[in-house]
Amino acid sequence: MTTLTPVLSAHWDEKDSFTMAGYKRHDGYKAAEKALKMEPDAVIQLVKDSGLRGRGGAGFPTGMKWGFIPQGDNKDHYLVVNADESEPGTCKDMPLLLANPHVLIEGMIIASYAIRAKYAFVYVRGEVTHVVRRVQQAIEDAYKAGYLGKNIFGSGVDLELVLHVGAGAYICGEETALLDSLEGFRGQPRLRPPFPAIAGLYARPTVVNNVESISSVPSIINNGAEWFSAMGTEKSKGMTIYSLSGHVTNPGQIEAPLGITLRELLDLAGGVRAGHELKFWTPGGSSTPIFTAAQLDTPLDYEGVAAAGSMLGTKALQIFDETTCVVRAVLRWSEFYKHESCGKCTPCREGTYWLVQILRDLENGKGSEADLDKLLDLCDNILGRAFCALGDGATSPITSSIKHFRDEYIAHFTNGGCPFDPHASTLFASAKAGA
Ligand SMILES: Cc1cc2nc3c(=O)[nH]c(=O)nc-3n(C[C@H](O)[C@H](O)[C@H](O)COP(=O)(O)O)c2cc1C
Ligand code: SF4
Repeated sequence: MTTLTPVLSAHWDEKDSFTMAGYKRHDGYKAAEKALKMEPDAVIQLVKDSGLRGRGGAGFPTGMKWGFIPQGDNKDHYLVVNADESEPGTCKDMPLLLANPHVLIEGMIIASYAIRAKYAFVYVRGEVTHVVRRVQQAIEDAYKAGYLGKNIFGSGVDLELVLHVGAGAYICGEETALLDSLEGFRGQPRLRPPFPAIAGLYARPTVVNNVESISSVPSIINNGAEWFSAMGTEKSKGMTIYSLSGHVTNPGQIEAPLGITLRELLDLAGGVRAGHELKFWTPGGSSTPIFTAAQLDTPLDYEGVAAAGSMLGTKALQIFDETTCVVRAVLRWSEFYKHESCGKCTPCREGTYWLVQILRDLENGKGSEADLDKLLDLCDNILGRAFCALGDGATSPITSSIKHFRDEYIAHFTNGGCPFDPHASTLFASAKAGA
């Protein structure tokens, strides 16, 4: 069994983990004090050396992203933290912010110093009022303690931190749509180039990073790059938070080194719920192609998951047992993508609409094998042709489920209805066994 590595989640079980006192009891804000005595470029180099890769989905190296910010350009620079967390199944950033908002603030002080930003923003999704209140309180407490505002730690460094609450749109997690939304426009992705590092918020050089990426920085400053890179695998370094949900005995967040397998994580989480067996799962949220029990031993790092035909994404492991109708699950995800499509480009706006129509018919027992080909053809016309990754992501559950469970799709129209419907006459043997 791979050893657990609770760093970000180390003190979540303490009653006051979210307060300034609770955070400072475990050396809180020491890393920021230390970093502000270093040269900004040395901070960037340390983060580069650690091998930290962005935890928001794409796994882009964090230090390298910071290094793209032009220096000596006499422009304002901005740090924007992406706390939109709307990918179905992803539930790591919100628990982190609830349990320890100060680690994000401390990470933001360090990152802003490194990229020479005097203004930083947290963009949080609108529905999570309890998280918003907690982060707002932590920001106020950090200002009172002198960790934000003018002359932090007497270093001469200034930082203003603004919490911005979105209106609850999945597309506003896409970094350029987020920037438009933050500027007060309708959240829709921007054409790139220019990339945010050159022209981001208010057309100024901007770093956009995920909550977990920035929150990982204080521990790297405190313990060193080698400590961090000793965890994980060759190209995917460090610890990370995996979120397990669905048909699992103890759902929740597990912090472990990159490269752990689902089999190991399930052991830690008490396994698939009693009396049932794994049918399919997502390695990184609903935008990533689904896996089956055949991938239980796939290393959950960027390279391992890609080699097995999917993506690590947000490390949102949604577990489905044999009682789940894969067509219904895929229909539900597709309805989400259709609803969240921002409408900017035709392949996604029109394509997600038609995907839902066909899937709805199939789930209701209407259709034929030609409809499966039509679904795949639609996906082929969206993937790589949509303006942003939302469109690509919408195709993943469909193409992967048809690959793994074509028979189950066919059973819907030969059965004249969903075989998992308890009122239907013929049930799949496996569903019967688990029901
Ligand atoms: C539709 C869509 C939604 C996204 N939602 C989020 C999100 O909620 N949080 C996040 O950090 N990244 C999200 N991303 C990825 C961001 O565009 C960006 O890559 C990320 O914030 C960069 O941070 P990182 O380098 O620290 O991972 C989303 C991307 C897409 C295409
Ligand atoms: S792919 Fe979808 S979400 Fe992205 S720009 Fe096109 S319509 Fe908008």
